[in-house]
Amino acid sequence: MTHPMLEWQEGDVTRSLRWQSESGLRPPKRVVIADDTLNADSAFRLASEGTGLLWRGDFQNARQLLQALTRRIERKPRKTSAIPRESFNLHRQAQSQRARTLGMLLVEVDADYGIGLRRAPDIRLACNEAYGASSGAFVVPLREILGLIGAHEWRRKGVEIAELEARIHPWYGVFSPIRGEYLALIAEAPLPARTLAFDIGTGTGVIAALLARRGVSEVVATDCDARALSCARDNLGRLDLLDRVQIVEADLFPPGRAPLVVCNPPWIPARPNAAIERAIYDPDSAMLRGFLTGLKDHLTPQGEGWLILSDLAEHLELRSREELLQMIADAGLKVVARMDTRPVHARAGDATDPLHEARAREITSLWRLAAA
Ligand SMILES: C[S@@+](CC[C@H](N)C(=O)[O-])C[C@H]1O[C@@H](n2cnc3c(N)ncnc32)[C@H](O)[C@@H]1O
Repeated sequence: MTHPMLEWQEGDVTRSLRWQSESGLRPPKRVVIADDTLNADSAFRLASEGTGLLWRGDFQNARQLLQALTRRIERKPRKTSAIPRESFNLHRQAQSQRARTLGMLLVEVDADYGIGLRRAPDIRLACNEAYGASSGAFVVPLREILGLIGAHEWRRKGVEIAELEARIHPWYGVFSPIRGEYLALIAEAPLPARTLAFDIGTGTGVIAALLARRGVSEVVATDCDARALSCARDNLGRLDLLDRVQIVEADLFPPGRAPLVVCNPPWIPARPNAAIERAIYDPDSAMLRGFLTGLKDHLTPQGEGWLILSDLAEHLELRSREELLQMIADAGLKVVARMDTRPVHARAGDATDPLHEARAREITSLWRLAAA
């Protein structure tokens, strides 16, 4: 991957370093040096204009400044519309603008993943986990460093998965099964066979683990993302299931057919604002379409495909139920049964969330599909 460079003036010297942004933010064209003497209002004005603030003060003060900038953004009234799709688009635009503004507070990280600021945390392990071996010093939005630290903590502690009676450890950038209500559906749905299953887009490996724990003797789990593949291997190893679960890099399906093929694709057909959103947002439902289109050719006779899908996109009027049913029919499939659940995550009950109305009605389903 080639990284753009960030250039700035510091005293009499022109300096430049590699720009690092996992969220895909472009380097700011103008950068000023900032420290503890900069007040939040001035910082907010500069950041809103697109001026990068390269921090040379105390690390914890920078963290507080970021919170002050966040409060200023949140104070602004939100634009909404009576039309759900428009409301969603306004919400996404606001999120993207917020990410740009908050991404203007920058820190320099040296080639050993050290931060040369007062009261800076040790982020070497978090950086090694997220970025791999260092390829030299770089400048990065502080917000991304905080994300990295948070991800390191999640990975260390893991997420308790009731259906596994164990913890799954999500890695940086890998979809975390934190809203795990769909796992209860996978734990309950009648297994068509216990011989072999495919888990398409395995992420942390949670579904593959669950199928193996339910007694499926061989599971092939795929993903196209390098971090997900390593993360799934790590989790299956921790659960001592690597003798039954094979993790392979593939675009959707592994070769061959199975009596059970499970997939939990991204559920919102919209452009992701950042790479780490790709597990949720997928333009034109590409993975969903790919899964449905290829499913029949990867099922054994009497085999079942289990599609996990939230209907949030339907409430946002981004994809209709008719469209989904048409996609199923066009793929030569029929619906055997559908099992529904309601999300229990905190945001479903949060009335201040701009998508509250849609989220409050959200249902996640396990669609049992078979060749028509
Ligand atoms: C919503 S996440 C689900 C992860 C996991 N199955 C779970 O339920 O927690 C979707 C996953 O599909 C993967 N993915 C996206 N497109 C893919 C493709 N064409 N082939 C294989 N995996 C893909 C992503 O990397 C991501 O890990």
